[in-house]
Amino acid sequence: MSAVAAVLAGGRIAAASASAKACAATTAVAASRMSLWAHVQQGPPDPILGLTEAYNKDTFPNKVNLGVGAYRDDEGKPHVLQCVTEAEKRLLDAHLNKEYASIQGPKDFRDASAKLALADADNALAEGRVTTVQSISGTGGLRVAGIFLAQFYNFPNKDRAIYLPTPTWSNHLPIFRACGIEPRTYSYYDKNTCGLDFKGMMQDLDKLENGSVVLLHACAQNPTGVDPTPEQWHEIATLIKQKNHLPVFDMAYQGFASGDYDKDAYAVRHFCEQGMLPFVIQSYSKNMGLYGERVGALNVVTTDPQQASAIESQLKIMIRALYSNPPIHGARIVATVLNDNDLHALLLKETHAMADRITSMRTRLVEELAKAGSKLDWSHIQRQIGMFCFSGLTEQEVQELISTYHIYLTKNGRISMAGVSSGNVEYLAHAMHAVTAHRE
Ligand SMILES: Cc1ncc(COP(=O)(O)O)c(C=O)c1O
Repeated sequence: MSAVAAVLAGGRIAAASASAKACAATTAVAASRMSLWAHVQQGPPDPILGLTEAYNKDTFPNKVNLGVGAYRDDEGKPHVLQCVTEAEKRLLDAHLNKEYASIQGPKDFRDASAKLALADADNALAEGRVTTVQSISGTGGLRVAGIFLAQFYNFPNKDRAIYLPTPTWSNHLPIFRACGIEPRTYSYYDKNTCGLDFKGMMQDLDKLENGSVVLLHACAQNPTGVDPTPEQWHEIATLIKQKNHLPVFDMAYQGFASGDYDKDAYAVRHFCEQGMLPFVIQSYSKNMGLYGERVGALNVVTTDPQQASAIESQLKIMIRALYSNPPIHGARIVATVLNDNDLHALLLKETHAMADRITSMRTRLVEELAKAGSKLDWSHIQRQIGMFCFSGLTEQEVQELISTYHIYLTKNGRISMAGVSSGNVEYLAHAMHAVTAHRE
């Protein structure tokens, strides 16, 4: 081989080995890319939103979605409140800019929101003892409350427990777990009466270490639709005060339970009047139909304005790191409605109408079940309140409703009454009777 040929051959060998090396490196990168997330397993669908996905895929013409907790009108359509549309027109006409809100949200929103929840209970607002921050609806308010409690509350138990009613909104558990707070339970629902297990609840609350954190649904308990009576709330408040527990009120349904905002805030205000310092988490998803706007508030009642200010400063530090500042549109709608006498009055009327439609569907469903020939006692459907009815249907009966009748509801038998309408109530009653007739 000539010297030139040898050099050329050497070059080819060097090039070939460089390309082999590059190829090996590419394969190694590809392999490490493959393994980067290989350990991530497919997660289960959300128990409630997963149902909507299954419902959407179903091609049966008379399918019914009773899973998701969102109001529908009597034609089964999503509903935008007139007061909201009017507020949006005014906001558009005002040609507002889109600058960032402050970390805690606009003041006109926060003041109006706190007033809607607390009114003049125990003079807390007048004395400047309440911290209110806008939240990413009820879910975000609960999450910020959880983060604050995890950092600042002096829990009486090592694993920092929050006590939740059994059953409760399924999302409460992951929300508090994500904050490093351990969800535990207290008795709430009595399967035999489809009502409140008041005795069990009181016994459990009494057994907790003093100073425990107790979550209470302010009204329209989700999923059971079972609320304590005012007299029972008095006894619960007395016990919680005696035990020095910290009450955390989830108030996702103010106005939606009875149609009356003051009546639905009775428990929250009573606790304040007894001198307790509750956390109150509000949502405007249901009562104003602002589901996708994600607007709510976290209120912390304190003993004095200095404490309120210190708590606000810490909440702001937490919010800044979470999402910096809240979305403006929903808060502007709520502030416009609540701060205008006419729009506020219209809101009360419209919330009342939504609550009334749901109540009338409860009556119709019980009547239609009887007409369909059911001999079972369904009276709890009428006794329960708010968006949900805890029907008492078993998991197997629910499965049959889904597979045979294309009626979608959560496996614990919770019916979103907001999805029941004049057009489907007869079909629903017929199907419920068919899957439960074996029990008669
Ligand atoms: C009891 C309860 N709390 C809080 C929420 C939170 O809802 P959002 O985040 O839409 O305000 C819900 C929604 O279904 C609920 O039922």
